[in-house]
Amino acid sequence: MDLIQIKGGNFLEGEISISGSKNASLPMIIASLLTRDKVKIRNIPNLSDVSTLLKLIKSLGSEFELKNEDNSSYKLIVQTKEIKNNIASYDLVRKMRASFWVLAPLILRYGEAKVSLPGGCAIGIRPINFYLSILEKMGASIKIKDGYVQASIKSNLQPINYKLDFPSVGVTHFFLMISSLVEGESIIRNAAMEPEIISLASMLNKMGAKITGHGTDKIVINGCSKLKGADTKIPPDRIEAGTFALAVATTGGKLKLKSINIKEIEILKDVLKNTDVEIKSSENFIEIIKKNRVIHPTDIETKPYPGFPTDLQAQFMALMAYSNGKSKIKETIFENRFMHVQELVRLGAKIKLNGDTAIVNGVKKLYGAPLMATDLRASASLIIGALRAEGTSTIRRVYHLDRGFDKIEQKLSSCGAIIERKRDNNE
Ligand code: EPU
Repeated sequence: MDLIQIKGGNFLEGEISISGSKNASLPMIIASLLTRDKVKIRNIPNLSDVSTLLKLIKSLGSEFELKNEDNSSYKLIVQTKEIKNNIASYDLVRKMRASFWVLAPLILRYGEAKVSLPGGCAIGIRPINFYLSILEKMGASIKIKDGYVQASIKSNLQPINYKLDFPSVGVTHFFLMISSLVEGESIIRNAAMEPEIISLASMLNKMGAKITGHGTDKIVINGCSKLKGADTKIPPDRIEAGTFALAVATTGGKLKLKSINIKEIEILKDVLKNTDVEIKSSENFIEIIKKNRVIHPTDIETKPYPGFPTDLQAQFMALMAYSNGKSKIKETIFENRFMHVQELVRLGAKIKLNGDTAIVNGVKKLYGAPLMATDLRASASLIIGALRAEGTSTIRRVYHLDRGFDKIEQKLSSCGAIIERKRDNNE
């Protein structure tokens, strides 16, 4: 296994091109299984979550080719003429929650499916009750046995009008995929409005579905009996962009982030301004300028899009660890997404937890320490904390990081960070 070593203290200066979005890639790759035709997906990032998903879809019958587009991204040409296997095994699904969504193409094209209960980052209980209730309302029979969801249909699924209790991203993706191949009008209300939903809906529309309202909380899907191939592109990763923005806000310096969609990080832009960071931006780049290292404490509360993303909460906490006062960070999406706290405390941060809120008393200095990554975004917060800490930090279990950040060490070191990946001989 690898570890990452960081010698903190340097300012970050330079330019970084943002890779394709992990959380858009995963549903879009799965959606390719809804058709027998060839699907082309450009700007695929180089992430272990993508490789895990490709292994899974191969096991189900997909054939694909990954072509290097330039040095930084891939073009995926994928075709699933036939679903040859309707079982998504524990080994492949446990690594990544999004794998569970293959249940949609499997049940639609095979009539029955067996998919392992999902794994992924340990950030909360993460139930699947909404998925199951949608399938049941559409007419599928469901059983949970031996750690697997077993679903089957006797006749065609029926379109439904469904109101989500919470605007779940995954369930909205799942609903769009499944109802695109259920003839008639399905409606999802209190739907997630995340940009990744818009990307998936646009891809499904290219494939022949008729989806309207994506990006709002009411999406209407006029499903059809057959979808066709499409040529589509993964949008930039707003969480990667936000992570680098928070990194330079913490270390000081000047970073230009290219290939972004500024509208998708509007909330972060506002929050960063409150912490006393200077920002210049246009539609597809943002420049973050932090001349001094004085950070104003700022409170945030994570919320579904367009609110502050839970996927940037840990990284924001690393910034607040260095603020010159007290801030409150409230996590409202996942009930256990504070595992980075104990590791930031190892760097010397002063953070207390009170239920769903972290109270951060900023300090002037943190000091390098041995750290352990606990989940994907937590790993990024440790990197940010360590980039400014005095001395050297080592971060173990960076396989969490590799799930969702494409070449993060190369990108940071090209901007002045002293960061190195090494073999971990102690694991
Ligand atoms: N929920 C239920 N029942 C369900 C489904 C969800 O109660 O059947 C609850 C969850 O327990 C959670 C809330 O709804 O409290 C929101 O979860 P959501 O379903 O929106 O999350 P997700 O689809 O599992 C995606 C991202 C996460 C991101 C969340 C929230 C992907 C692959 N994952 O997860 O990304 O944090 O939406 O924005 O798109 C990450 O990239 O590090 C990551 C965890």
